[in-house]
Order: sequence, then structure tokens, then C-alpha cells
Amino acid sequence: MPDTITITDDRTGKTVTVPIEGGVFPSSALRELDPSLYMYDPAYLSTAATQSQITYLDGTNGVLRYRGYPIEQLAEHSTYLEVAYLLVNGELPNAEQLAGWTNDVTHHTFIHENMRKRFVDGFHYDAHPMGMFVSAVAALGTFYDGAKDIEDPAARKHQTLRLIAKSPTIAAMCYRFSVGLPFNQPDNDLSYAANFLNMMWKIGDYEVDPALERAMDILFILHADHEQNCGTTAMRVIGSSHADPYSSAAGAASALYGPRHGGANEAVIRMLSEIGSIENVPAFVESVKKGEGRLMGFGHRVYKNYDPRATIIKKAAYDVFEVTGKSPLLDIALKLEETALEDPYFVDRKLYPNVDFYSGLIYQALKFPVEMFTVLFAIPRMSGWLAHWDELLEEGQKISRPRQWYTGSDERDYVPIANR
Ligand code: CMC
Repeated sequence: MPDTITITDDRTGKTVTVPIEGGVFPSSALRELDPSLYMYDPAYLSTAATQSQITYLDGTNGVLRYRGYPIEQLAEHSTYLEVAYLLVNGELPNAEQLAGWTNDVTHHTFIHENMRKRFVDGFHYDAHPMGMFVSAVAALGTFYDGAKDIEDPAARKHQTLRLIAKSPTIAAMCYRFSVGLPFNQPDNDLSYAANFLNMMWKIGDYEVDPALERAMDILFILHADHEQNCGTTAMRVIGSSHADPYSSAAGAASALYGPRHGGANEAVIRMLSEIGSIENVPAFVESVKKGEGRLMGFGHRVYKNYDPRATIIKKAAYDVFEVTGKSPLLDIALKLEETALEDPYFVDRKLYPNVDFYSGLIYQALKFPVEMFTVLFAIPRMSGWLAHWDELLEEGQKISRPRQWYTGSDERDYVPIANR
């Protein structure tokens, strides 16, 4: 069977045959038939917008791999910093490379004092931490002359290091500001995850529990990348205009903020709290089926199977509950999952729990307020965004510029206001 596709333009009888590679064919073939012909694909349901070597996702079979390594193996054996290295450099580091990378990240965690004093302090006292995070990431770029030096691979690596190192610092700073607590400086003797928890929670004699540190690190690993999702696509689109990586990452973080994307973990906790008790689950599921709302933390554009990250997170949740005590919302979540997975509405539409269904329960057990949940997603996703940004620039991709299907008015004459 030939690996080609033949397309005929029935208006002219013209035919074009193009290769299919990896399940994809170049849509430019259509232009050979007629240069004014475009595909209509709002929301990219059937468009591969780029080639990429970073993350493999098979949504039918629930497979996720970073640079070829299964997510299950990385979650079990690796650390977030090793995974971040893998994503941005393409290979796992050897011992010396990992030591160097860890040292470099650890020594870039501090942020300019003016960021806190002049910038963060300017926010309203009840500003949402994710809004603060988005703005602070963009503002950080103004502190570095080299941020715009995007053609130089070494300069790109430097900005990448900075953004990965400083994301937890910015996140913790936004939280401490929002609750009126003094900011904790990074502690370079701690791991990436422990340092973040320490900056978040240290008051007096705080010590990070190793089980919670590991759980945080696993969550960071699971959220590090997820191929061409909404946020990463925003990163690539903005990056393709050759904007600096801080502005691009702020755009990606803005996309992540929405409740259909990274904001879903916050929405899940609100939904579980509203349901209130196991007895209310069937009625809630019925209301979702009537279109009165969505079952947050369920469904995915690509996964038509259990999201492999949800499986790992569900297990990690139990490890966390051993230390913190069980979340009162866990039983509601389990009942909701059980009910939905047996209901034809969800089965027929292949709606399964996604990464956000159980992550919020862990975050809540770790005492994070719901407003911080999407920030917790953004911290590790920074490495994925930057890996995609670097790949795009390395490949010299053109500026992103989709076409449209115009459905507005035909030409008409301007009407003076008195005649309208
Ligand atoms: N609850 C109830 N029905 C749903 C849900 C849901 N969570 N998700 C999809 N559906 C239904 C939808 O109503 C539609 O039904 P019908 O065919 O009768 O019109 C069908 O399933 C297909 O939905 P869709 O909106 O066309 O699917 P999509 O691929 O555009 O949306 C999604 C994917 C993730 C936005 C959507 O499933 C959703 O809104 N889920 C809830 C929010 C959520 O958990 N988001 C986190 C995604 S994972 C983290 C991340 O990657 O950011």
C-alpha cells in the first residue's frame, strides 16, 4: 500500500499526490491544485502545526514520552531538574552534566530586588497569583539586555536557565505578597522542589518533609511538557515573531491560566467543594449531561483514554495523604470518577480523568490555596515552553501566520452617522 494521498479538485479535475509520513501530509499540496485554497481547521483539530522532537503523545493508548523516555519511568526514577535538562538539551545528562546544571540553576534563583520592591509590591493586595506570575515573567525580561539576543544559541541557553531557575522564586514571591508575608530568599542548599516549598512556607523553624518534597518533584516532572497544547502553541506563535523568551513565556502562561487548560485544577477543587458530598454526585453528573456545566478534570483534546499522568498523580496523592491526612474531597472525587466512567455519556465521548483531576487534591493537601494551582503548573511547564521555543528558533521556523475564512460583509459604502 503506497504511503501517499491523492487529492482531486472536483472543480477542475486536477489531481495531486503527496507522501504521508508519520500520519501527516503537507497541506501545501492543496496550493498546488489552487494557490488560493486553504484548509479550514479552527482550534487545530486536525492540523500538525510543527514538527517536533520533544514529546510524544499517543492519546488513543494513553502514552506520554519526553524525548523517548516513558513518563512512568521518569516519574519513578528521575528528578524535575534532570527532566528539565532532558527537555531543553535533548538527552539525559551524565553525572557531571547534571551536577553542573543543578549548580547553574541553583545559582540563578535570586531575582533583582527591584522586581519585588517596585514591581510586585505595586499589585493590589488581593491580586490573583497567576495574574501576578504572568506579569512578573514578562517584567523579568526587562532586567536582562541579552533577552532579545535570540539568534545566539548560547544566549538562548542562558535565558532558559534563568527562567527555569527563577520561576519558583517568582511564584513563591507572588504567594507571599498575596498573603502579606515577608518574602523568603532562595536557599541554595536545598533541591529545586524543597527550595520552592521552603520559599512558600518557611516561617520560623520550617523543614521540608522529604515525602512532600518528592511528591512536589513528581508533580513538576508530570507537568514539564505536553507537546502542542494551548500554552505551548502560544509560546511557539509568539516566539516565531522573535519576541524575547520572557514575553513569549508570559504569553504561554496567560494561555495556561484559562479554566479549560491549566486553570482546570483550580476549577476541579471548586467543583468538588460545590458538590459537597458523595450523595450529590449522581445529580451533579446528570446536570453535566444536560449541558449545565462540564466535569472539570475530565476530557482531553488528545487523550481518548486515561491520561497516564492522572494514574501517577492518583498514586502520589495517597503518598501525600499518608503525611498530611486524607483530603475530605477525595471520596467525592473517587465517586465522581467511578460514576462517570460507567456512564454512557462519558464512555461514548471517551472522557477520562486528565492530569488536573487529582493534582488539585495534592496541592490542597500540601496547603496551597486554589489560586496558586495554575502557578504550580506553570513553574515546571517553563522548561517545556523553553524547549519548544529553542527548537523553533533552531529550525528557523517562519513567523506563524494562519489564514482565515472570511464570512463578513461584502464591500459596502460608508454611511454617515446621521443616516444610520
Ligand atoms: N464534561 C462534560 N462533557 C465534556 C467534557 C467534560 N469535561 N469535555 C468534553 N465534553 C463533551 C462535550 O460537551 C462534547 O460533547 P458533544 O459532542 O455532545 O457536543 C464532547 O465531549 C467533545 O468535547 P469538546 O469540547 O469538543 O472537546 P475538546 O477536545 O474541544 O475539549 C477539553 C477538550 C479539555 C477542553 C474539554 O474536555 C474540557 O473542557 N474539559 C474540562 C476542562 C479540563 O479538565 N481541562 C484540563 C485539560 S488537561 C490539562 C491541560 O492540558 O491543560
